[in-house]
Amino acid sequence: MRAVRIAPSILASDFAALGEAIRAAERGGADLIHVDVMDGHFVPNITIGPPVVKALKRVAHVPLDVHLMISEPDRYLEAFVEAGAAMISVHVEVLPHLQRTLAQIRHLGALAGAVLNPSTPVVTIEEVLDDLDFVLIMSVNPGFGGQVFIPRSEQKVRALRQRLDGTGRHIPIEIDGGIDLSNIARVVDAGVDIVVAGSAVFGAPDPAAAVRQLRAAALRQDSDPS
Ligand code: DX5
Ligand code: ZN
Repeated sequence: MRAVRIAPSILASDFAALGEAIRAAERGGADLIHVDVMDGHFVPNITIGPPVVKALKRVAHVPLDVHLMISEPDRYLEAFVEAGAAMISVHVEVLPHLQRTLAQIRHLGALAGAVLNPSTPVVTIEEVLDDLDFVLIMSVNPGFGGQVFIPRSEQKVRALRQRLDGTGRHIPIEIDGGIDLSNIARVVDAGVDIVVAGSAVFGAPDPAAAVRQLRAAALRQDSDPS
């Protein structure tokens, strides 16, 4: 069976205790730490920048997966890689020169991901599949944690999985938004490799246990049709 990676999003954690949030996620077996960067422009919310990523990097043992929800990602790629981002994903909605941006992320030494909002079709990345290391499917409109999963995302993942399998190399699909114990198995069955979970991890009384439960639920996909 395909390995599923769990990427807790620290957006839902206590920002006064980010180090503890990372330690708890890692105790639970987190594979990545998902870092949500918002600029108050592309999305309504404002979160963190490179200095905080640098601080997280000192604490984290697993790779930092940095999701840039910002209008001008090109201006900040180098700063985020220098701060310690191992994976950087950028939104296709803001990038007229998407190929160049993805190539630049790789050139800087990070894995390059393209992110699609719920209303953005899969065909928008057709011409850059060779330039990608992963694709992030938003299953909510970005900007806030704790939103409800948009059901249509499951079909979108299935279609994307089929298209990516046609490339002959394995390009992981990441999903982000509204994932919890009730839907993780379904999205993994549809073809997701990396699952982001914010409130399902840090809204739980025991975040480490929540990561373990999500992984167990993800792997139950074959036996549990619900
Ligand atoms: C939303 C962010 C997500 C968010 C997910 O804009 O990109 O990563 O933290 O949070 P949940 O899992 O609570 O939907
Ligand atoms: Zn995110």
